[in-house]
Amino acid sequence: MLYAVIMAGGIGSRFWPKSRIDHPKQFLKVFGEATLLQNTVARLQGLVPLERCYIVTHQRYVEKTREQLPALPPENILAEPIGRNTAPCITYAAIKLLAQDPDALMVVLPADHVIRNVRAFHETLRVAIEKAREPGALVTIGIKPTYPATGYGYIQFEGSAEHLFEEPRPYRVRTFAEKPDLATAERFLDSGDFLWNSGMFIWRADSILTEVQHHLPDLYEAFEPLRQAVGTPDEPHLLKQAYQTCPSISIDYGVMERSQHAWVVPGNFEWSDVGDWRAVYDLSPKDQLGNALKGQVIVRDASRNYVDTEKRLVVLIGIHDTAVIDTEDALLICNLDSTQQVKNVVEYLQAHN
Ligand code: GDD
Ligand code: MG
Repeated sequence: MLYAVIMAGGIGSRFWPKSRIDHPKQFLKVFGEATLLQNTVARLQGLVPLERCYIVTHQRYVEKTREQLPALPPENILAEPIGRNTAPCITYAAIKLLAQDPDALMVVLPADHVIRNVRAFHETLRVAIEKAREPGALVTIGIKPTYPATGYGYIQFEGSAEHLFEEPRPYRVRTFAEKPDLATAERFLDSGDFLWNSGMFIWRADSILTEVQHHLPDLYEAFEPLRQAVGTPDEPHLLKQAYQTCPSISIDYGVMERSQHAWVVPGNFEWSDVGDWRAVYDLSPKDQLGNALKGQVIVRDASRNYVDTEKRLVVLIGIHDTAVIDTEDALLICNLDSTQQVKNVVEYLQAHN
């Protein structure tokens, strides 16, 4: 049977001051009235019923997840005792699903992306799901790269780039390179035979566990006692033990870069991982002068600004290319070309608090 596994445990520090350790990006209303997490679940309607959607998150976010998804069966929230990146998160989910369904097929999704053309998204996923029924196959969704980003994984596909986005179909993966440096990213982009990794994965639960066993034996072994004890009274403490002993590593570095069984289906839909305030600005509707304004804002002789104010009135005069984010206890004023640096400030704050 088909299940969705939504990874929602990241702490996403680039949306400070709106995102905080207890309120990360996936729980924010970045666009409109729903949060990124709520949109991720809603987007699956027609593909995976809610009873088969699972959310994996840190235990500190379980309450928030419940509040945001009241219709989700509470037992579908899998709580992690410690954040150990995406490989343990996926391993845990695979073990839970396998315990109830030896044929479980998982669509693994990040909780914090924006996807605009849902019909094309479903069409792409359906093709990926068909491919992933093959035992052993690891399938990912590729996105047409538009600039030499260094925060994404790059996938080199086998075969001709012609008609790549016309009819979705799987291509064998030749190389998977997670977060290359700028020079390498530029080379990949120029070559024309690389896609961005969207961070969505489709595979049978037993396929990914076999790959974890092969490429991340420490992780596999850490979870082995838990696998034997799902549904027994020992489960909670063995879960804790698994997270305490397993390595912290992403599925991209841990498995995707090393696997010989990866496939990619190019996705022909509008996609963004909305990585920072700049990305939010780019995706927002704007007035004639390029201002995107949320809350009570007055602008004079001001252009290409992003303003989000919760309570206070914000006035911009003679200001351009600036993000202004005003919250109860902190105010961010940042050039729209420097929004990547926000996370450095969060690191600074964490170190000095
Ligand atoms: N449950 C859980 N536990 N979820 C986690 C954890 C964890 O320890 N760490 C991260 N996540 C969640 C995040 O909330 C997010 O939804 C998703 O897993 C991906 O993690 P990110 O930390 O956002 O990864 P990334 O953006 O650096 O890189 C990934 O996504 C890119 C596309 O956006 C990789 O897959 C890249 O290859 C890819 O290009
Ligand atoms: Mg991300």
